[in-house]
Amino acid sequence: KEVGSGKVTWQSPSNIALVKYWGKRENQIPANPSISFTLDTCRTTTSLDFQKKEKGTDFDFELFFENEKKESFKPKIIKFFERVEEYLPFLKEYKFTIQTSNSFPHSSGIASSASGMSALALCLMNLEKQLNPGMSEEYFNRKASFLARLGSGSACRSIKGNLVAWGEHKNIAESSDLYGVEFQHPVHENFRNYQDTILLVDKGEKQVSSTLGHDLMNGHPYAERRFQQAHENLDLLKGIFEKGDLSAFTKVVESEALTLHAMMMTSQPYFLLMKPNTLEIINKVFDFRERTGLHLCFTLDAGANVHLLYPETEKEETLEFIKANLLQYCQNEQYITDRVGKGAKKL
Ligand code: PMV
Repeated sequence: KEVGSGKVTWQSPSNIALVKYWGKRENQIPANPSISFTLDTCRTTTSLDFQKKEKGTDFDFELFFENEKKESFKPKIIKFFERVEEYLPFLKEYKFTIQTSNSFPHSSGIASSASGMSALALCLMNLEKQLNPGMSEEYFNRKASFLARLGSGSACRSIKGNLVAWGEHKNIAESSDLYGVEFQHPVHENFRNYQDTILLVDKGEKQVSSTLGHDLMNGHPYAERRFQQAHENLDLLKGIFEKGDLSAFTKVVESEALTLHAMMMTSQPYFLLMKPNTLEIINKVFDFRERTGLHLCFTLDAGANVHLLYPETEKEETLEFIKANLLQYCQNEQYITDRVGKGAKKL
């Protein structure tokens, strides 16, 4: 079909991995399977304005971030376009204006690559659907996730909610290295509306880009055992979700976070991304659990910020504790309250 011009807008959330993706092969193929909670309030909104033109030799686009022209983001987008052109052959036949903004403060140390790349992939997929009407919703979502993966691996887990698995695993239905799939196995109500309070410990630029980080797993002395462990932890989580075992959940999730950091500490070159305040928070979380029997647990990305996960039924006491005892370890007492969400939506 001919499509001259138009505009589409998508809003896509961030996600927080429970079993971490760390290490990849050629073409953004993960070295191990991962699973994440899709988040709700941490989102990127992206609109794509498109105008048909003579097919050019280069990609033709302008980029605005929070209403300002952003040349510095362009190389990332060009790289993404190069990777996906094979699957979206119309890219050089349009002039695009991309406008994007985040719901969370920029330079908060919260990575926007997952929400940003998934939102852009969805906008492009929307144009693809206008050109080729009649595709199923499932095809649309899978291809959007596939494209998002080529932008940033973890972005492929942001299209759908509430739990998304990515990477082949023998016991996870429909799992694929190429795109994220909604977790289709039973999930106990204990995990409904899980909360994620994100403590902004260090808002500085990430010390290790994830590209470099994944590369550190090439030739890493513990890599093979770690990849195997991710499979084992996914099996454990599958049983935990079914039974609703919150204590067992804590054990897997916290161990995954510390293992991710252990991999960085034991690679060459090595990186230490936790800050003293990260450790203060972790120790306070241990104390709180011991004292109250509640189910607050932490996880980490490749940085110093801490994600605090807890069931909605324990929200009142837990948030009270966080506000009274943990905000002192954040930069300017900054934190974000988020929760599990349903995935991206078209505006
Ligand atoms: O998607 P990337 O390449 O930025 O890698 C993300 C890696 C972690 O956030 C550390 C773990 C994960 O699974 O999200």
